[in-house]
Amino acid sequence: MPQLDLVIRNGTVATAGDVVRCDVGVRDGKVAVLAKGLCGARETLDATGKLVLPGGVDSHCHIAQVSSMGLETADDFRSGSISAACGGTTTIIPFAAQYKGQSLRQVVEAYHARAKGEAVIDYAFHLIISDPTPQVLGQELPALIREGCTSFKVYMTYDQLKLDDTQMLNVLAAARREGAMVMVHAENHDVIAWLSERLLAAGHQAPRFHGLAHAAPAEREATHRAITLAEIVDVPLLIVHVSGREAIEEIGRAQRRGLRVYGETCPQYLFLTADDLDRDGFEGAKYVCSPPPRDAANQEHVWRGLESGVLSVFSSDHAPYRFDDPEGKRKGRGGPFTAIANGVPGLEVRLPLLFAAGVGGGRLTLEQFVAVTATNPAKTYGLYPQKGTIAVGADADIALWDPELEVTVSAERLHDNMDYTPYEGRRVTGWPVTTLSRGEIVWDGKEPRGAPGRGRFLPCALPDAAKPRGRFVGGFDPASGELHGDDRDG
Ligand code: URP
Ligand code: ZN
Ligand code: ZN
Repeated sequence: MPQLDLVIRNGTVATAGDVVRCDVGVRDGKVAVLAKGLCGARETLDATGKLVLPGGVDSHCHIAQVSSMGLETADDFRSGSISAACGGTTTIIPFAAQYKGQSLRQVVEAYHARAKGEAVIDYAFHLIISDPTPQVLGQELPALIREGCTSFKVYMTYDQLKLDDTQMLNVLAAARREGAMVMVHAENHDVIAWLSERLLAAGHQAPRFHGLAHAAPAEREATHRAITLAEIVDVPLLIVHVSGREAIEEIGRAQRRGLRVYGETCPQYLFLTADDLDRDGFEGAKYVCSPPPRDAANQEHVWRGLESGVLSVFSSDHAPYRFDDPEGKRKGRGGPFTAIANGVPGLEVRLPLLFAAGVGGGRLTLEQFVAVTATNPAKTYGLYPQKGTIAVGADADIALWDPELEVTVSAERLHDNMDYTPYEGRRVTGWPVTTLSRGEIVWDGKEPRGAPGRGRFLPCALPDAAKPRGRFVGGFDPASGELHGDDRDG
């Protein structure tokens, strides 16, 4: 057997399926062997007392992206990918965001240019489709899917991004034709606009009213509608950033009916509440994101959603806008809550927060933790088994965790380009002390390592989860125009 480049010795290796004591041998950036008593490698990492986990796959983050309010995120591919690596994440899937009138092809090229020479870990792109013209859906999208952008997000709210139901159906039909995965931001735009207008007319401008305007029933209705539209077209769907009970109930019901509907949630729905939006003065702006954090009862529902598997993906939705910055949250200061940049940072703390409260708190097994933070997102978006697991032939994307390490979260110790963290002062137990990307150390527990530009673009395969099944409502295939028997429940 040719010599190994690296052996990780004496650790406890956990995947989504197993927890075993064994060594990990790495050659040419890939896992080459899993066995006890490996030796004779060029380098050795002693993992005694450590957990050896697949590097996280953060499948929802906004990096070097211009928001619908025209603000650029505080993190670019360099700072964003470094921050991710320091929190144990080795793959990020940010968005290439199309605005109306833009060519999707040109948008993707622009994002490639932003990432090139900057990223320290590997990355893929989801597309954001806001202008689903026949040219975009018929020409540009199929070509981009062939090049590895096999998932796209659509919005049911935000003036600059939202699609109406007809446009949604057109996008879903294109996804079905191509075998791609659709992600939906599900909130009812008209409800939010109507509530916002009335709140503002009554003089309610403060950040906390963002939470009232983005009412949970508006999320529930849009979730239900998105699922209905996907059912009509027979295409799988992933509802992103699910905030609480109402949307979870819709997703669970759809799953019990046999629909391929997946749910994603994020740290803000487990660790923040609407009370944070009500902090003194403008402080509440730090917690403005959409959907907003709800209450403790909803947090409990989100935990149960993760435990039961109704929610299968845990992403950060890292959408970083600095607090004390005229191009960040401060732009909305003194104005209505509708002018506050939407989004919270979370790339680096995503895994430690969930590990401490989930695994440490006895709510999730280690296997479940790995599943929702790495394996499931890799599978959902066509990156598995290259990413998201520790297996022979997989990329050696690995995080060594000290499960006993106590850390107080603070903006100062994080590596993003932010001036705050919504989790300031929170004490967690467990943090990654070494992160390897394709066998190379990119975080050594003290300093980020790894040269900007070493991160590679990952073309995603068509996800297995998105394979067409041919189960149509009423038996009519809206894509081909053919009539089949209605085998929905059979
Ligand atoms: O408030 C949020 N989540 N901002 C980021 C954009 C999005 O909708 O995911
Ligand atoms: Zn969204
Ligand atoms: Zn987002």
